[in-house]
Amino acid sequence: MRSGRDVIAPLMTLAAAAALTATVASAQNLDAGKPAEKLFTDGCATCHRSPRGLAKGRFSLMLSWFLKDHYATSPDTAKALAAYLQSVDELPPRATAKPGAKPSKASPRPSKPVTSR
Ligand code: HEC
Repeated sequence: MRSGRDVIAPLMTLAAAAALTATVASAQNLDAGKPAEKLFTDGCATCHRSPRGLAKGRFSLMLSWFLKDHYATSPDTAKALAAYLQSVDELPPRATAKPGAKPSKASPRPSKPVTSR
């Protein structure tokens, strides 16, 4: 029974390599911002110039459902995109900002330009 032993060592090496590869792969998946961002630039930016303002403070479940329904993406892709849209959306859900209204926090401009001199 010589061959049985000779097989184990390469198998162990293979298993270790596989485990290492799996770790690296999952580590890359944790960086979820990039893939979704690429998905957007690849498939959405033609029509939506900016990912901002698309989420509109919606719940991620509704958002991913919308994306799945309208753009026939996979559930995972829709989820990633929804999370991405929300992450770049600067509208806090509980903010009672009027849609379309310009932020008027900064120094209010005079309605008429002052043209003295
Ligand atoms: C072919 C052009 C086109 C592409 C490509 C496209 N969209 Fe849209 N999208 C639209 C239009 C037009 C609307 C507005 C439709 C409506 O109001 O019902 C819209 C609406 C939306 C809305 C809802 C916005 C709102 O105001 O309610 C979201 C979210 C959205 N798109 C996300 C995406 C994402 C994510 C992708 C990429 C997977 C994408 N879109 C790709 C044209 C496009």
